[in-house]
Amino acid sequence: PITTLRRENQTLVLENVGLKKLAADYGTPLYVYSKAALSEAWQAWQVPADRPIHICYAVKANSNIAILNFFARQGAFFDTVSQGEIARVLAAGAPAHRVVFSGVAKSVKEIEFALNEGIHCFNVESLAELDRLHAVATRLGKRAPISLRINPDVDAKTHPYISTGLKENKFGIDHTEALAAYQYAASLSGLNIIGIDYHIGSQLTSLTPYLDAQNRLFGLVKQLAEHGITLEHIDLGGGLGVRYRDEVPPTAASLVEQALNGLREAGFNHALMFEPGRSLVANAGLMLTEVEYLKPTQHKNFAIVDAGMNDLIRPALYEAWMQVVNIDEHDASAVAAQHYDVVGPVCESTDWLAKDRELAVQAGDVLAVLSAGAYCMTMASNYNSRQRPAELLVDGSTVHVIRERDTLASLWADERIPE
Ligand code: LLP
Repeated sequence: PITTLRRENQTLVLENVGLKKLAADYGTPLYVYSKAALSEAWQAWQVPADRPIHICYAVKANSNIAILNFFARQGAFFDTVSQGEIARVLAAGAPAHRVVFSGVAKSVKEIEFALNEGIHCFNVESLAELDRLHAVATRLGKRAPISLRINPDVDAKTHPYISTGLKENKFGIDHTEALAAYQYAASLSGLNIIGIDYHIGSQLTSLTPYLDAQNRLFGLVKQLAEHGITLEHIDLGGGLGVRYRDEVPPTAASLVEQALNGLREAGFNHALMFEPGRSLVANAGLMLTEVEYLKPTQHKNFAIVDAGMNDLIRPALYEAWMQVVNIDEHDASAVAAQHYDVVGPVCESTDWLAKDRELAVQAGDVLAVLSAGAYCMTMASNYNSRQRPAELLVDGSTVHVIRERDTLASLWADERIPE
């Protein structure tokens, strides 16, 4: 799944750097990203068009400031969901006017911060949030640029934990209540209506739910115009899936083209926005982990590795399938392939990275978990007082450390013992 990864002399090489050496030099668990793969993923979203198309990178997928800086240099916008994410984007060198702020629970403090920085747009998720935005903006003598996140009630046909566009989800404003919500927003002087948005779910592998949602949204945009409410942009969210195993997701270009065709058919001249996270970073990264022990039991074989669910939680949380490969190939005569559950050091039964995989593996080998550029390091924690991994960015033959491994002292640096 990572295009810049190849096997050379029985070992894995990312761009021009051997993974074995990275593991030896920097230790494991270790996240490694490929700049060329990031660039490829970004290029896949670039489609010539008769209007501006803003690709807002969803920061939650991978928020390392080096990654954000890379996308900022490409001209990306950013989809954020907290003050922390906005601050990261600014620290990475991107201007506030390229930031959109999503999320159902924006606090007064976060809204003040975003207004003072001058972000592009608030993606509003409820009527109560409209009231709060209006109040804070009025107090600061500003007008808040807003879009309403519509819940189009379409089935994205993805894992229920990452599906967001069904009416039973907490996200967005029901499409049947959208017109009334826009009319209400138009009555509030602290707000400036500029757009409409949705996000229907993540890891989508078909264009159909996008088309259903898009048709619903475009119908709404027409209805709004009939009521004198005009918009500058239409934001179709993120969610484009990637290949972890054998999925065949649509290309980013086909998704953009489908949207452009719909806009032209409807006679709309709005700017277009998307909020991709996973499709920009998942297959630009991997995680290296060393096998500590092999533990054969009567029921199964365990390969116990030095990375746990605190380092990479997707299998534990979503039963996500992620490819695991040995970075060194053994001669079949030396090490026989067997079926293993690849498990970590954390004291939980859900602490597994892969189940029932055929691997030719020995203690001391380094395994690579592929497609680990998205929602892996950002979801890492210090559970079991484990030090979160270091992160590297490979660029040709150059290796940049873009995050140091947590130090022991950092684990309790913010804690205090009462006198
Ligand atoms: N926009 C909004 C409002 C979102 O909530 C999300 C993701 C995105 C954009 C980006 O979606 P993407 O293009 O990455 O699918 N932790 C889960 C994924 C959670 C996605 C949450 N929202 C996982 O590891 O699969």
